[in-house]
Amino acid sequence: WRQRSELEKMADLPPELEKELDRLDNEFWVSRDKLKEIVKRFQEELEDGLRKHGQNISMNLSWVLSMPTGDEKGTFLALDLGGTNLRVCIVELHGKEGKEGKRHTLTQEQYKLDPKIKESTTEDLWNHVADTLQTFLSSKGLDKQYTPDSPMPLAFTFSYPALQDRIDHGKLVTWTKGFDISGVEGHDVAAQLRAKIEDRGLPIDLVCLANDTVGAMIASAYNDPATIIGAIFGTGCNAAYMEELSKSSIPKARLSDDDWKLAEKEALKMAINCEYGAFDNERRVLPVTKYDEQIDRESPRPGEQGFEKLSAGLYLGEIFRLILVDLVDRNLVFKDQDVSQLQKPYTLDTGFLSEIEDDETPRFEKTRALFKEKLGLEPRDEEIELSRRLAELIAVRGARLCACGIAAICLNSSLESGHVAADGSVANKHPKFKKRWAKALGEVLDWEDREKASHAQDNEGPIKLTSAEDGSGVGVAVIAAMTVERRERGNF
Ligand code: GLC
Repeated sequence: WRQRSELEKMADLPPELEKELDRLDNEFWVSRDKLKEIVKRFQEELEDGLRKHGQNISMNLSWVLSMPTGDEKGTFLALDLGGTNLRVCIVELHGKEGKEGKRHTLTQEQYKLDPKIKESTTEDLWNHVADTLQTFLSSKGLDKQYTPDSPMPLAFTFSYPALQDRIDHGKLVTWTKGFDISGVEGHDVAAQLRAKIEDRGLPIDLVCLANDTVGAMIASAYNDPATIIGAIFGTGCNAAYMEELSKSSIPKARLSDDDWKLAEKEALKMAINCEYGAFDNERRVLPVTKYDEQIDRESPRPGEQGFEKLSAGLYLGEIFRLILVDLVDRNLVFKDQDVSQLQKPYTLDTGFLSEIEDDETPRFEKTRALFKEKLGLEPRDEEIELSRRLAELIAVRGARLCACGIAAICLNSSLESGHVAADGSVANKHPKFKKRWAKALGEVLDWEDREKASHAQDNEGPIKLTSAEDGSGVGVAVIAAMTVERRERGNF
């Protein structure tokens, strides 16, 4: 395993731990051939999703019909229902000329989402959201500025798989990322929220709903025309891109004859929210270990989000924990220590792994302190060495898998250069993610010539990962501006 690791050796491991690490290393390593096998299957599933409904990868139509020009303007309310927070923003778009050197101004409040909401009911969820909106409006005096007859336009980021017939509508297919709120799946979340807004007489008009990946792509394209894809590598894992809006490119799209004509005349494209966290739900090609199987079995939706459960931030810390628990059960580590904290599901987040990988303190004092604080454990040198390698191999597998989804989109759409605007805790906070991702992308896309390959190592290849602009704030506001403008022109 040492050959595949970048770690400097700090301790000798007893033979039984050496053996375990060799085993884990083989199970977690995704070779170049394996990457290519995964990408091939990924390309097929992306195509299936455009052809028919009900496929693993659902390729949801977003009704965002072009990239922004960068000159969108206006003032909007943006609401983001994230996994841990509810965020409400006032976004002012200033277009190309800007205002005081800025393309937009944003005022926001974050409200912590009570973890109980995740397992509550539709009533609890929307009451909570409406309460939050109401509090925000009155704290900013917006309830005096706008009226129900002349309402403030609201753009809603809903980062779960939703089927959209129009831009201001979205039927939740299934909760992901550990959410399990009853009474929402199968229903139009925009209608549910709108009903609460009306009940309370709030001066708000919900004009559009968008996935976080679509928001990330549009926010980034508003500032950077080289943007080709918006991606989230965070709690969940997903991406969006622009597909040609034609009967041959999106066979499952249903438009009126007039709208097809307009699409052709204006060469419209449609942003597609891939929802590729559900890639390979049958797990035909993914390198699944027994730890991944356990995560799936114990999740609220077994058999779903097959890809996401191997690669996204919600699960990386849990994989690490399950491996340690396995080793404890076999009396290989933390002998004679109290492991009760370690037995608690989802106690470790991706930040824990990042900090271990990032630790440059002498004798890994930071890692030791983390173990003490989060798990009440005092690791010996060999356990530190083991943990460092585990953090590395889990994150490397995740990053290499994350490159597969993007590679498949690029290959299917013949995208040979451009920026993949990424957001999410893994993309932005994990110290080595970008480089690992870029290297794997280069391997899959055969960036063999020396220059491209070495550029890939530094994330300077023809397709490169950039940090996305604020998708759930600026991005959805730009989408709202584009929607209002299309509506004024009488277009779909
Ligand atoms: C999950 C959601 C998807 C979202 C992603 C990133 O995969 O299903 O809609 O884009 O997480 O937040």
